[in-house]
Amino acid sequence: MLSKAIILCLVCLNIAITVNSEPAPFGTVIGVTNGPTNVYSCNNPPQDDPNYYPEGTDDSNGTYTGIKWQCVELARRYLFINYNLLFDSVDGASDIYNLTTITNAKDNSKVAFKAHAQGSSIPLVIGSLVIYDKVGKYAPWGHVAVVVNVTSDHIDIVEQNVEDTYWKESYSRRLNVTRTASSFTINKYYPEVEIVLGWMTADIHPQC
Ligand SMILES: *[C@@H]1O[C@H](CO)[C@@H](O)[C@H](O)[C@H]1NC(C)=O
Ligand SMILES: *[C@@H]1O[C@H](CO)[C@@H](O)[C@H](O)[C@H]1NC(C)=O
Ligand SMILES: *[C@@H]1O[C@H](CO)[C@@H](O)[C@H](O)[C@H]1NC(C)=O
Ligand SMILES: *[C@@H]1O[C@H](CO)[C@@H](O)[C@H](O)[C@H]1NC(C)=O
Repeated sequence: MLSKAIILCLVCLNIAITVNSEPAPFGTVIGVTNGPTNVYSCNNPPQDDPNYYPEGTDDSNGTYTGIKWQCVELARRYLFINYNLLFDSVDGASDIYNLTTITNAKDNSKVAFKAHAQGSSIPLVIGSLVIYDKVGKYAPWGHVAVVVNVTSDHIDIVEQNVEDTYWKESYSRRLNVTRTASSFTINKYYPEVEIVLGWMTADIHPQC
């Protein structure tokens, strides 16, 4: 009787976990981060989904945040809502690593947007973008996520188009990091091959 109860319990737990980690339908808000910035599920995106034009952007002047609800769209929308910055159109997320400037949408001026390679001595900060190469889980376009918290042993990131499940915490995933006096390295998360190209930091904390 007891063992039967235990087995039943394990079955229940298993079902609860499965249901909880089921991807949310496309377009559902799965979490809200700084800004506030909504994070949407990209589960089963329709073909030919159009660019998103949130308030403050406009088709007529070519400002938008990207294809709903891809990883690049969230990265661009986060920087726009939080810092009024819009980065240029890119073919894939990994190409963000090639950019050198980002546009201040208020006056169309260019702000430095710096790439720091994985293992760099310059750590990322809140608002930095983590850029993954187009291999493994992130083939063929690469991946981008936004850093929302940095501690001595981990970072918290927000992202679209990876898990697509409702958040259990105030971020999408927590990645462990290894820090030395002269290097900052983001550790692997998934079993598949994973290459972190590095992180992009806009000049968002100008000195006064
Ligand atoms: C583009 O249009 C939007 C909405 O009208 C406006 O708020 C924004 O300032 C414009 N951006 C540029 C760079 O002209
Ligand atoms: C960056 O630019 C180089 C040279 O144009 C190109 O080969 C590469 O694919 C681009 N993307 C990344 C992620 O380096
Ligand atoms: C950052 O993470 C630390 C440690 O987990 C936590 O105490 C803190 O509240 C977090 N800050 C934000 C803004 O989430
Ligand atoms: C990160 O480190 C913690 C503590 O050592 C560990 O429990 C967790 O599994 C690690 N996360 C990953 C994705 O490896």
